[in-house]
Amino acid sequence: MAYSTRLEVFPLSKHIGAEIRGVDLRTKPNAETVAAIYQAWLDHLVLVFPDQELEQEDFLRVTEYFGEVGQVHRPPKYFPPGFSRILPNILMISNIRENGEPIGVLPDGEMMFHHDMIHAEVPSKATILYSLEIPKTGGDTLFASGYAAYDTLDPKVRARLEGKQAKHHYNYGSQARGDGKGTEAFAEMAHPVFRTHEETKRKAVYVNRLMTVELLDTPKAESDELLGKLFDHAEKPEFIYAHTWRVGDLLLWDNRCSTHARTDFPATERRLMLRTTVKGTTRPY
Ligand code: OGA
Ligand code: MN
Repeated sequence: MAYSTRLEVFPLSKHIGAEIRGVDLRTKPNAETVAAIYQAWLDHLVLVFPDQELEQEDFLRVTEYFGEVGQVHRPPKYFPPGFSRILPNILMISNIRENGEPIGVLPDGEMMFHHDMIHAEVPSKATILYSLEIPKTGGDTLFASGYAAYDTLDPKVRARLEGKQAKHHYNYGSQARGDGKGTEAFAEMAHPVFRTHEETKRKAVYVNRLMTVELLDTPKAESDELLGKLFDHAEKPEFIYAHTWRVGDLLLWDNRCSTHARTDFPATERRLMLRTTVKGTTRPY
């Protein structure tokens, strides 16, 4: 039975993130509640639903509230062993090892700020993580608002960047710029430096330290200088919400207007998440 509920929305920081209480995602909320959740997501960019006990089928159903479930883009050759135990279109993120090999992708440690799939022609709209095992310390996921970065950017820098495109490159498995991981499977694409969100109509900074290589039609020294300024600005602490995970958190973010990163955690601690994406509906403009 679909149920109706009054959403309780608790903002988690000034610019990004809200916790949604009073929703059990195992049961299907009615259309009105789904619409309210969707609007809260557009307003807050990142939503956290604590204390969820979901089957993989529930996780896929929840993903559909936000659009069409995204396919896994990673070539099957690079699927780690844990993937045989999960449903299609769910990805496993884990450092847990069986026979010395991680059972999931993005296994260990830190990850630089990035937008998921920005190296594709139509990047993912949303990503959802559902936490099953978390380290005692570290392994937080940080989220930065691209709207806040755009709105507060030095007007002189903004004027120099307006209308420019940037090239993005990603090697599957890479976690830091130029770390040389995953060089056999990669993709590249150019998109506008400032992206207009097709639903909110707001503009967001749309480059990131992990994947953005260069500004098009710009001398290299100038491109490096401007991108360096943009990365530093967009990662300022006041634009960030740092999520410390609890088991059972379902967390959803908007890749059109936010970036995310991961902090380091001890190799001796287990971390296991399931992950889905929502397909993008347009080329960024
Ligand atoms: C991702 C990602 C960060 C994390 O799944 O796209 O960047 O905290 N994950 O594992
Ligand atoms: Mn990511």
